[in-house]
Amino acid sequence: MSRPAASAPSISFRVNGSKATVTGDPMRRLSEVLRDDLGLTGTKVGCDAGDCGACTVRLDGDPVCACLVPLGQMDGRDVRTVEGLADVASLSPLQAAFLSAGAAQCGICTPGMLMASDALLAVAPHPTESQVMAALGGVLCRCTGYRKIVDAVRTTGEVGSAGDLAEAPEPGPGSAVGARILRLDGVDQVMGATIFGADVVPAGALGLRTVRSPHARAKFTIGDLSAIHATHPGLVRVLVAADIPGQNQHGVYATGKDQPVLADGHVRYRGEAVAALVGDPETVARIRDADLPITWEPLPALFEMETAAAPGAEQLHKGSPGNILAAGRVVCGDATTGLAASAVVASGTFETSHVEHAYIEPEAGYARRRGDRVEVFATTQTPYMDRDEIALILGLTPTQVRVMPSACGGGFGGKLDLSVQPLIALAAWLLDRPVRCVYTRPESMLATTKRHPARITARLGADATGRLTAIDFHGDFDTGAYASWGPTVANRVPVHASGPYVVPAVRATTRAIYTNGPISGAFRGFGVPQAAIAQEALLDDLAAQLGMDRLEIRLRNALGAGSVTATGQVLAASAGLGACLEALRPAWDRAIADAAAFNARQGAGDLPTRRGVGIGAMWYGIGIHPISFNATPILSRIGGM
Ligand code: FES
Repeated sequence: MSRPAASAPSISFRVNGSKATVTGDPMRRLSEVLRDDLGLTGTKVGCDAGDCGACTVRLDGDPVCACLVPLGQMDGRDVRTVEGLADVASLSPLQAAFLSAGAAQCGICTPGMLMASDALLAVAPHPTESQVMAALGGVLCRCTGYRKIVDAVRTTGEVGSAGDLAEAPEPGPGSAVGARILRLDGVDQVMGATIFGADVVPAGALGLRTVRSPHARAKFTIGDLSAIHATHPGLVRVLVAADIPGQNQHGVYATGKDQPVLADGHVRYRGEAVAALVGDPETVARIRDADLPITWEPLPALFEMETAAAPGAEQLHKGSPGNILAAGRVVCGDATTGLAASAVVASGTFETSHVEHAYIEPEAGYARRRGDRVEVFATTQTPYMDRDEIALILGLTPTQVRVMPSACGGGFGGKLDLSVQPLIALAAWLLDRPVRCVYTRPESMLATTKRHPARITARLGADATGRLTAIDFHGDFDTGAYASWGPTVANRVPVHASGPYVVPAVRATTRAIYTNGPISGAFRGFGVPQAAIAQEALLDDLAAQLGMDRLEIRLRNALGAGSVTATGQVLAASAGLGACLEALRPAWDRAIADAAAFNARQGAGDLPTRRGVGIGAMWYGIGIHPISFNATPILSRIGGM
């Protein structure tokens, strides 16, 4: 968006070889000028803080975060963006290498990666791996794991043109699995031409900004808004709960629609939206939350699952005694007897924390009314669910709502829930004007879902040969203020509580518990990774007690073709766990040898101080806080990874 000002200077610089002149506030970010004034939306914005590197461009040849460069420093400078990499006829060798290597997945980080790589290759045409890693260290990718990006930079110039790549023969019968194919959207991604949620600004679009609760639990009232309208003429409307024409409650499940679009006098988590400011974008950005006549009455909040589920605890939602949103249970055989008869038993309690998805693309989109219909263009993983929820909220039929998903710059489950969609749809519907909203990074982290924190207590038994006998498992999952995907977590985890292993006797129970914490939702695995931490740690413990190799105990118990799961499913085919474990063996043997050599160099010492390795941690690599555990040597092994 342009901010011309009568006294603002004109600043001229070169962009991709052409002269550009921009008049405006010298403090505006270069990223904003490139995107909004010059239409170069290939430069992406992930954080506006110089942390993610998505906005990396070359400024006088050097890679810089465009979000940190003020327009006032641009006079006479030369900037190159991703749009300047390719000529009209073909991709640059670097872009072709990214395409060939599959170095772009969602593509939101790709322009920044390309520009940082381009700067490196200008001074080091044949970089070492460590040079590539150092050069790309300021650009974050949440999808690829970096390997393919590093490979792409190092093989630049070795692959053919994009045309050659596209014409490469497809793999023949029997060789398709594992073969590399070009992404259908790959050329757009490496050109920076993929359109994400924030990349479209309809003509005349109003801006929308939410006002959010500073309290985890509170009552509130919103007073007379005439004064704020008088002092901010660009403010068109302040939307509150009473403006919602349909149902001010949404949620994933038909029976779990407990989350308001705009809170109605009562907030249940810090960051809950209570109002939406709609108007010209500069005005809504300028108004401070404290400028609104909101009276808060903070209330004691329930942050811990134990206190939320304790007898007599205040209910966050009517009809959820004990603040239990959902419970899950799988019972197979007699776990108590199985454990009693086991040669060895491992037990422990494990806690995991909230985890933020941290996709590089913050939530963004626009909506506009088309007669008796509304169109919503937004980043989302679930356009049809969004459509149905927006229809409920606006009191429309689903056929009156059209959701047009933009490219999704990372989601990982976090964009399975609504974010900007109902807000912009409501504003566009009521005002009959296009309305756009882009969450800031802090707002994205504050307002959207997280991985469920878990507290898991489990006992796992095995016979003297290392065959698993029984598991007794209970997991509590902090679902936060609203249901979201909590029922899925509570019901899926017991099914997977015995892991990818044959366990004849299983007792697995779970609870999803409401608290006044952030909303927990979908995040790759729906609670199963949290359970896997407990399973794998206990397997390590059993192996230690039996003096057995930890890879071996997993191979001995791996599910395969013909295995029967805890829910009675007979597996018609193997998913390949045994083959995966065998593939680990060379690395595992090396790790064992390295640990033995290290320990030999250290001399004899107590086991807890010695270096070890844990297969579970190798697999899952996520945060773990084992708060109690019956085998201290295992703790040191996990901590020593
Ligand atoms: Fe890098 Fe998605 S491809 S963040």
